[in-house]
Formats: sequence, C-alpha cells, structure tokens
Amino acid sequence: MTHNPTIQENGLPSTCSVHAGETRPKPGHALIDPIFQTSTYTFDNMADAVTYQEAHNKGHVDDRFEYGRYGNPTVAASEARLAALENAETAIQVASGMAALTFTFLSMLPSGSHIVMTDDSYRRTRQFVEEHLKKFNIGCTVVPLGDFAALESAIRPETRILFSETPSNPYLYILDVERFAEVGQRRGILTVIDATFSTPINLRPLDWGIDIITHSATKYLGGHHDLLAGFIAGKEKVLKPVRDYIGILGGISDPNTAYLLLRGMKTLGLRIRQQNASGQAVAEFLASHPAVEQVWYPGLKTHPGHEIAARQMKGFGGVLSFTIKGGRQETFRFIDALQIPHISPSLGGTESLLLHPASMAYSDLTAEQCLQVGIPQNLVRFSLGIEDPEDLIADLAQALNT
Ligand SMILES: Cc1ncc(COP(=O)(O)O)c(C=O)c1O
Repeated sequence: MTHNPTIQENGLPSTCSVHAGETRPKPGHALIDPIFQTSTYTFDNMADAVTYQEAHNKGHVDDRFEYGRYGNPTVAASEARLAALENAETAIQVASGMAALTFTFLSMLPSGSHIVMTDDSYRRTRQFVEEHLKKFNIGCTVVPLGDFAALESAIRPETRILFSETPSNPYLYILDVERFAEVGQRRGILTVIDATFSTPINLRPLDWGIDIITHSATKYLGGHHDLLAGFIAGKEKVLKPVRDYIGILGGISDPNTAYLLLRGMKTLGLRIRQQNASGQAVAEFLASHPAVEQVWYPGLKTHPGHEIAARQMKGFGGVLSFTIKGGRQETFRFIDALQIPHISPSLGGTESLLLHPASMAYSDLTAEQCLQVGIPQNLVRFSLGIEDPEDLIADLAQALNT
C-alpha cells in the first residue's frame, strides 16, 4: 500500500480533498480507506524491527507503524490529505484545535522565551498564552491585529513565535499574511497562524511564507459537527520537535476521527464555496436592514480587512458577526425568533449556528467587563451552514421584524 503521491503533489483543491492521502490498492480492494482500529503493530522478525527503528531514528516514517501514540494508517491518510490541501510538507492530527495550539506553543517555546500574539482571537487560546504559559516562565505581548508597528516593537531578543488567527474571531479581521511572514523572516522568528476560519480553500498561509498553521478540524475540515480534532502543518524539519513532543504528551487523535475527517474533507470545496456565497448574500442583506446596527464580514467593502482579503483570499468565508439595534433583551428576542439556525457555540459545519458571545463564550464576565474586551450585549455571531441562503435570509427577515 502506498499513499497517492501524484494527487498529493499536483491536485487542485477538490481533487486533493477526495484523493490525497488515500492508499492504492486498499485492503480487500475496497474503495474507501479502512479504519485501522489497533493500538499496536507487529514486526515479522527482529531484522524487520531493527530496520524500522533505524528508519524511524533518521526521520518520520508514515507507511509503517510501531505503536498507536506514534502513528496510525487511517490517521496518516487524513494527515496526508490535509497536508496536500495546505501545500504543506507534513501535517499532524491531534485531539482538538486547542491541542494543536497548546502542543505547538509548548514544544516551540523554551522557558524564558516570549510570544507575540494578535488580540481578536479564540478566547481559550488567549487564556492559554496569557495565563498558562507564565507557569513555564514564558512571556507574552498582545498587539492589535493588523498593527504592524506594534507587532515590531513588541518583539524582544527572546521572542520565538509571532501568532495570529485569520480571519479572527468574532470580528473577522484579516491579517496581511505576506507582511506577517516577512516580519518573521526578517527578525528570525517563527510565524504561526490559526487558519481555522480561512480553510485551505480560501487561503493557504504557507504559500505566503508562514511557517506553521494550526486548525480546529472540529470546524470546516470535519464539517458536520460530529467530531473534535486539530491539525498542525508545515515543513517536516520545523515540525519535528512538535511531533516528538506529542509522542510524549500523548494527546493524539484516533482512527475513527480520522475516518470522519477523510470523509468530511471530501466535500470541503463544495461546502466552502456554498458558505462563501451564503456569507456574502446574508451579510449584504443584514447590512441593508434597518434593525441591524453594524455587520462585520470581510466580503463587505465597509469591513477594515476587505482590501487584504480580496487580494490574498479566494473567498470571504462563512462566518459573520453583527449587532442588533437595541440591547440584550432585543437581541435575545431576535435569536429566539429564528427557526433555522441552532443556538450553539461552534461553527463551520453543515448546520447554521448562532452564538451570543456575551452570554455564552464570555458568560463569566459582567456586561461592563464584556464591553471592555469588545463584546457588547447586542453582538451576534452567525456561522453559516450549507442551507439555501434564500431560506436563511427569509428566516433572518422574519426574526428581525418580530
Ligand atoms: C479559531 C479557533 N481556534 C481554535 C479553536 C479550538 O478548537 P477545538 O474546539 O477543536 O479545540 C476554536 C474553537 O472554537 C476556534 O474557533
């Protein structure tokens, strides 16, 4: 059995989505890659064991396995598919998006080092960087996303990572990834991007010179709200310490999740194109509605990231945020009147989901504290599913008019 190198190297996104990483021929001449439900692997004799160990000591082996914490054929197929989609030399699948971030930071940041991260970001990531890295004597500076003067002046001799999301959460701010990569290269610092919101269909940060990307594969890559997983992708040499450390930390991803990811990724291009189109239609509808105060969507010319997104991205994505005219009560009334989207904290799957950040992701903060971190009571985040945009708009219209 071999992975499909031709597709991996030359395929366009949807061809990669379906075929990259698959083995040919497959056991039993099945069409679909099997789920290898095993914790360990066997060697035919000691010569076989020694040959494997020697190869393993020289570098990563992805077609022969030793023990489940160090690799699995179904997981390797899923990793190869994501690597092909992101134009990465290699990818590592882990237990969740947070595992992808925390493992990357823990393996790349020695004690006494420092990280610079941009501000509008997933709350748990910022919590880990600001509150938990301290325990390892690792400092951090948070700068506004897009403020390159602040980014440059935050860099210290001990800075090892520049980190950002793009588009960011919840305001969909857009990072100029080319400029970010240039700063990292000029200053000799690793650049890391959480590319969960962009997906390889809309943006491939590695093509712009970024060193490492992470994904919450729980979102668009899985795409069906039925799994939790994360990916780390980049050059083999750069990711070697991360791969080695994960073998010790142990937060790996199982073959059943890999199977669901292989299946989910097959329709990535179709889903993202639909979500891009719906995002634009819904954003334009909301922006013109008298009951809506403001809309944040990079496809709108009024969004501060529009020009960079139009230049660097192939689509503006399937998440938008907006404020309703009024306060918490009016916003709750609007949310409760909606018929199609579920009220739920995730994003990126086939079902549309709606989040009220102030009372869900920031429920431990008072209204005043929420405002201080830029989360007003009338803010709503809308993650579009793959429903027809006409139905979503009709639903939004009736809820806004109640
Ligand atoms: C941008 C971003 N990164 C990382 C994560 C964490 O991913 P997971 O829930 O898979 O750990 C999330 C989760 O919402 C996210 O939105």
